[in-house]
Amino acid sequence: MTTTPKAGLEGMIAGDTAIASVLQDKLIYRGYEIHDLAEHATFEEVAFVLLEGHKPSKSELTRFKDELIANRALPGPVKDFLKASRPMLREGTAVPMDVMRTCVSILGNLDHDAQSNEPEANLWKSKRLLAKMPTIIGHMQNVIDGKEFVAPETGGDAKLSHAANLLYLMTGEKPREDAAKVMDVSLILYAEHDFNASTFTGRVIAATLSDMHGAVTGAIAALKGPLHGGANEAAMEMLREVKAAVDGGMSVEDWMADAFEKKKKLMGFGHRVYKKGDHRAPILHALGRRIAARRGGEFLEYFTIGEQVQSIMETRKEIYPNVDFPCGLTYFAMDIPVAQYTPIFVASRVSGWCAHIMEQHANNRLIRPIANYIGEMPRAWG
Ligand code: COA
Repeated sequence: MTTTPKAGLEGMIAGDTAIASVLQDKLIYRGYEIHDLAEHATFEEVAFVLLEGHKPSKSELTRFKDELIANRALPGPVKDFLKASRPMLREGTAVPMDVMRTCVSILGNLDHDAQSNEPEANLWKSKRLLAKMPTIIGHMQNVIDGKEFVAPETGGDAKLSHAANLLYLMTGEKPREDAAKVMDVSLILYAEHDFNASTFTGRVIAATLSDMHGAVTGAIAALKGPLHGGANEAAMEMLREVKAAVDGGMSVEDWMADAFEKKKKLMGFGHRVYKKGDHRAPILHALGRRIAARRGGEFLEYFTIGEQVQSIMETRKEIYPNVDFPCGLTYFAMDIPVAQYTPIFVASRVSGWCAHIMEQHANNRLIRPIANYIGEMPRAWG
């Protein structure tokens, strides 16, 4: 006897994992609570915990960081593709998430371990992918800005952390300490979230015994959508609309009343699992607001408008912001181009995806549900 699950598989447990747990009252990565990690860990430590399964010793962390730094540079064909992507990005036939997806696919075509799903090969591929994501984003932004690649031979500055190096590669300027810290925390918050749509996509691909680069490529496509990772970009676009209305003399209250009337989905709000709020959102909001307050002007105006939107949404609908809402505001206050928000999410979440792909390969069974057929009953053709 089979039962039909709720639409969107809401509430269904789809398998076991030892990597993360998303609960109403807490989010844990391998037993470590997200507030604890955001306050006391670095992104590199969190990525190690996810990929290698335990808290790193000092020497393990040094080794891990060295491995990432040594693998930051991109191979020639990926750099060539990035240069070739300029007209696609300019004409809008591709957005940065699409370009990033293709870069990962090319990396797979060039990886000597590409066809091996052995644990050692998978771990190495995970580290190489993790190391290269900021370089893809940085070089792509250089191409968009019509500039030379920053540090194409090394993929950055070996003295900089993963987060600081990402900002450096995008601009060619060493970031301020507070900006690097906020980026680091945002990467920690984005790193893992159990069976979300992109991770589950990656696991479904891995479960056919397909390879890690293929699974990550598919996961990137799933993350792009505005109901998932693309919400950080969509939230900022929505706030731009609200700000334009406010600048034109409309109040935030009236904009919201109109949105409710039209039954608009407000981007960066709501969550399939969290019904009383996303644990990650207040952490990033507080940090981002500090940057906006330092910078003042429109950065602070956007935060203030965002807070009004949030308050009305909470009071009128009891719908809370997810992490993508403060992320949009925070990255905006850090001068990050909106179209790179979701690729930055990838630069973090790839650590969680790879951990899940390895977990799937280590104890695999094909993921193949059945459909509830609602079509025509059997009938004659001829
Ligand atoms: N804006 C307005 N209303 C929302 C909303 C939002 N962002 N999110 C949920 N709701 C409302 C729905 O309209 C629905 O109301 P109804 O029962 O009167 O029809 C109710 O809340 C339940 O929403 P539902 O769409 O069934 O929730 P879901 O679990 O299927 O969807 C999301 C979850 C995340 C897809 C959804 O909240 C959403 O689209 N959010 C915006 C995109 C986003 O921020 N995504 C990032 C997620 S981390």
